[in-house]
Amino acid sequence: MKAIALVGGLGTRLRPVTYDLPKQLIPLAGRSMLYRALDVLPDDLDEVVLATGYKAEQIAAYVHEHPYRLRIRTVPERQPLGTGGGMRNVADGMSDPFFVINSDIVSSASAADVLRVHEQRNGIGALLLARVEETQTFGVAALGENDRITQFVEKPAPGEAPSPWINAGISVWRREVLDRIPAGREVSFEREILPGLLDRGVYGARLEGYWQDAGTPERVLYAQRLLFEAGKGIEVHLPSGASGTGPVSVGPGARAVGATFGPLVTLGEGVVVGDEARISNSIVMEGARIDSAATVVGSILGPRAHVAAGHRVADQILGAGGEA
Ligand code: GTP
Repeated sequence: MKAIALVGGLGTRLRPVTYDLPKQLIPLAGRSMLYRALDVLPDDLDEVVLATGYKAEQIAAYVHEHPYRLRIRTVPERQPLGTGGGMRNVADGMSDPFFVINSDIVSSASAADVLRVHEQRNGIGALLLARVEETQTFGVAALGENDRITQFVEKPAPGEAPSPWINAGISVWRREVLDRIPAGREVSFEREILPGLLDRGVYGARLEGYWQDAGTPERVLYAQRLLFEAGKGIEVHLPSGASGTGPVSVGPGARAVGATFGPLVTLGEGVVVGDEARISNSIVMEGARIDSAATVVGSILGPRAHVAAGHRVADQILGAGGEA
């Protein structure tokens, strides 16, 4: 069996960091968003096909340099094709059934559980449903018998959601679904294709566990928090000579002698933090510098960003090489 991972979006809500890198390469608790997303896939997959587009060559280089436990192939789009068009573009040789996952989510879910629901119910597909408090930015499912999905309401106004259960971006489909997607143009799977599949039987697999999409700065940091809380940080310890509280994920060659840490921090490779600097709830990407007595809270600093001595950066996102 194979999986399609959708990795081609522009990531506009995470600018300016995404001017220089695709959002999937932002590290969450020390590991890229891309690999965090792929972690839901089972070990016995034959292949993961990454449907790439924006910054496709960076994704391909990353995958080449950082081997993953599954075989990965990247297929770039010449122009953005949307979620449905992206699936159609990698249809050649796809398995029946196949998985589709969004690459900007973190979850304790297992895609194998969604496959099990699909096999049990024997419809045209099944998808993971996550329960959320605020449904306004999601596709919300109305559910019938045996969790058959009767309707999807995209981005409902407050009070108009049919349930608290949203499309969580992990699904299983029969191969024939790909034939229903028009080729060669932009297609939104959720808007153009999914509604027409419901009468063939699309079933929900309700998630018990954590789930978070990482499409905005706040959600990226919350996704990182969930991963740390689930113990998914890699090499979680304070940098030598630093004080405060972890968890902190420290990349190779990162230094922070005399700095103080609050919880929930990723320091990328070669980051240098000056003495008496304070950092909490943030992601600091490779080669960034935070000078003495600066403060960084609730922020995402892109590669080689620089915070000058004594400056305070709170709830901000700095692009690659950005200055504060
Ligand atoms: P924003 O611009 O901030 O909305 O982010 P985004 O472009 O990533 O869009 P969104 O979060 O809605 O995308 C959901 C998933 O679909 C992500 O994994 C995207 O990478 C992916 N995706 C979105 N548009 C395309 C596309 O045109 N082609 C491909 N292959 N994937 C896409």
